[in-house]
Amino acid sequence: MNSGTGMHNRILALQEEALRALAGASTPQEIEQIRILYLGRRGNLTELLRAVKALPADERPAIGRTANEVKETLIRELEVHQERIREAERQKRLAAESLDISLPGRRPRRGHYHPLTLITREIVSVFRGMGFEVVEGPEIDRDFYNFEALNMPRDHPARDMQDTFYLSEDVVLRTHTSNVQIHTMMARRPPLRVIAPGTVYRCDSDTTHSPMFHQVEGFLVDRDVSFAELKGILTAFVHALFSPDVPLRFRPSYFPFTEPSAEVDIGCFLCRRKGCRVCSQTGWLEILGSGMIHPEVFRMVGYEPGAYTGFAFGLGIERIAMLKYGADDIRLFFENDVRFLQQF
Ligand code: DAH
Repeated sequence: MNSGTGMHNRILALQEEALRALAGASTPQEIEQIRILYLGRRGNLTELLRAVKALPADERPAIGRTANEVKETLIRELEVHQERIREAERQKRLAAESLDISLPGRRPRRGHYHPLTLITREIVSVFRGMGFEVVEGPEIDRDFYNFEALNMPRDHPARDMQDTFYLSEDVVLRTHTSNVQIHTMMARRPPLRVIAPGTVYRCDSDTTHSPMFHQVEGFLVDRDVSFAELKGILTAFVHALFSPDVPLRFRPSYFPFTEPSAEVDIGCFLCRRKGCRVCSQTGWLEILGSGMIHPEVFRMVGYEPGAYTGFAFGLGIERIAMLKYGADDIRLFFENDVRFLQQF
């Protein structure tokens, strides 16, 4: 057994065995165990190398060379596999924390206009198309512009309908956008074709009233403007905003700053005028107030009596939005709940 060929074969078998073990190792600890098993002080190869010394002198050099070569091979291979395992671990760590550039990108969520802004823009663009210009007015205003000049003197009962926030005896948060009529007419002369969207305030709060809400005011002043023009413009507007087959009704009404006055109703599109909860069984939905501008208003802004005629109208944006979108609570527009807002 201790013959030269036997020893030679054992050395080579040991090498083969060690290399196979190394190929199967997957942790640094396993590599170290293999090193101890073959090259440790009492390792298999170490013992064999010791045994070489006991061989007959003529066989020693050849076996000794083989044994040393195998030892060097093992030392080299231990290092190679140690490095292989380190590299595999590095790759695993990298994969866990790295960026996968083949993944589809995450789109940033895009914002969009608020439903009330959308409606306002729609309304304004219909009137722009008919030659109206956009004018804005103050939200904090004098009593004079909000009431007095609109033919609502201090003791006028019509003031009761507009629960007003007073900042002082003479200064209010505007209760409607009609103050823009006064500011514009006092600053300029007809012809005027103005559309005035804006925020208004009333001390009122429930499912259909908010203390802060929005209106669009419109007015047209020129020589010889008649009620026919009011009807024509408002009909064209309603048909553009809703649909050309929506029926309209001009219902006599009262506003201190117009005479005659009319409220405009549209046929209820929910029940097709059969009567439902939304239209209170009437088949009609009120959407705006309007009328021929009162001569007293022209007098208050300093226009000479009889020189001009004109019409005005005002509508609530939230009301239109609620009708158009089928929203049943005005507060939905102001709570900023994305689940509501993202539907528009
Ligand atoms: N200012 C009125 C309101 O807030 C709405 C209104 C009605 C405006 C008739 C007008 C009009 O210009 O002619 O209730």
